[in-house]
Amino acid sequence: MVKVDKFIHESIEKIKKNVKGRAIIALSGGVDSSVCAVLAHRAIGEMLTPIYIDTGLMRKGETERIKKIFSDMNLQVVDGKENFLRALKGQTDPEKKRKAVGEAFIREFEKEARKLGARYLIQGTIYPDRIESEGGIKSHHNVGGLPSVIDFEGIVEPLADLYKDEVREVARALGLPREISDRMPFPGPGLSVRIIGEVTEEKLDVVRAANAIVEEELLEQFGPWQTFAALIEKGTGVKGDIRVHGWIIAVRAVSSRDGMTAEAMELPWDTLRKIESRITSEIPNVSRVLYDLTPKPPATIEFE
Ligand code: XMP
Repeated sequence: MVKVDKFIHESIEKIKKNVKGRAIIALSGGVDSSVCAVLAHRAIGEMLTPIYIDTGLMRKGETERIKKIFSDMNLQVVDGKENFLRALKGQTDPEKKRKAVGEAFIREFEKEARKLGARYLIQGTIYPDRIESEGGIKSHHNVGGLPSVIDFEGIVEPLADLYKDEVREVARALGLPREISDRMPFPGPGLSVRIIGEVTEEKLDVVRAANAIVEEELLEQFGPWQTFAALIEKGTGVKGDIRVHGWIIAVRAVSSRDGMTAEAMELPWDTLRKIESRITSEIPNVSRVLYDLTPKPPATIEFE
């Protein structure tokens, strides 16, 4: 605890020292950017504007939740749904989709930064983000992309040397609610990496609804490291007496230590059946539900 308190104290001092004008931070609602926003807010108060971009790729209820939690922080909420869908239109390649989301994000963010005349950027990059990006494993859209066109006078990354569990500890020490401090990882490109192929509004609605069911059934009861639903194209099924061509949903629940490797969780059959039955009955155009047994490696945790 002493170490955490010391970290908090020192990073607030560092932010005070390095930020000499209006600063912005892209707040995603994840633990990293949330911790950063709170630290920066304590350091520079109203000189900080956290910007939350509603990409339309968020989980059910996410935007409302963020607005509530950060209501005392001068939060700017930007509706970017149409722009993100447009950027993703026709894109089927996983890396191109990631890039499209990253670029749309930068454009929205820059627009807001310009309006505010912000000279400093605060980012919640943590140590593993840097390693994964430098190693070229995958283009993490939240690394290295933001300051592309705008010349910020300074970029501050208070969490650059921390691991995820350390960030969670800081979150708890800062008094952030459990839904933030213990929040399971959610990828920067959001639901777009949980839809195989082109992202459309219909697919987003389906995967978002399925994901909410999976979280409701598994999160509290089984404490997975990460759990979610993904959408995999269409397959034939029967609903009533009619053959339908419905969406196929894959359910993923993994245990892991750090996300670098993972094991599929051994869930009770009853639980899996309940999830299947809820998804196929509550979401009209889903005709099949699968449970993903694959560890990482050879699979990744996300589907793209
Ligand atoms: P994979 O799918 O590579 O995921 O096994 C490992 C962990 O990283 C998360 N993830 C991301 N997080 N931006 C992020 O901020 C991304 O582009 C991204 N891709 C994957 C994933 O949810 C898992 O926890």
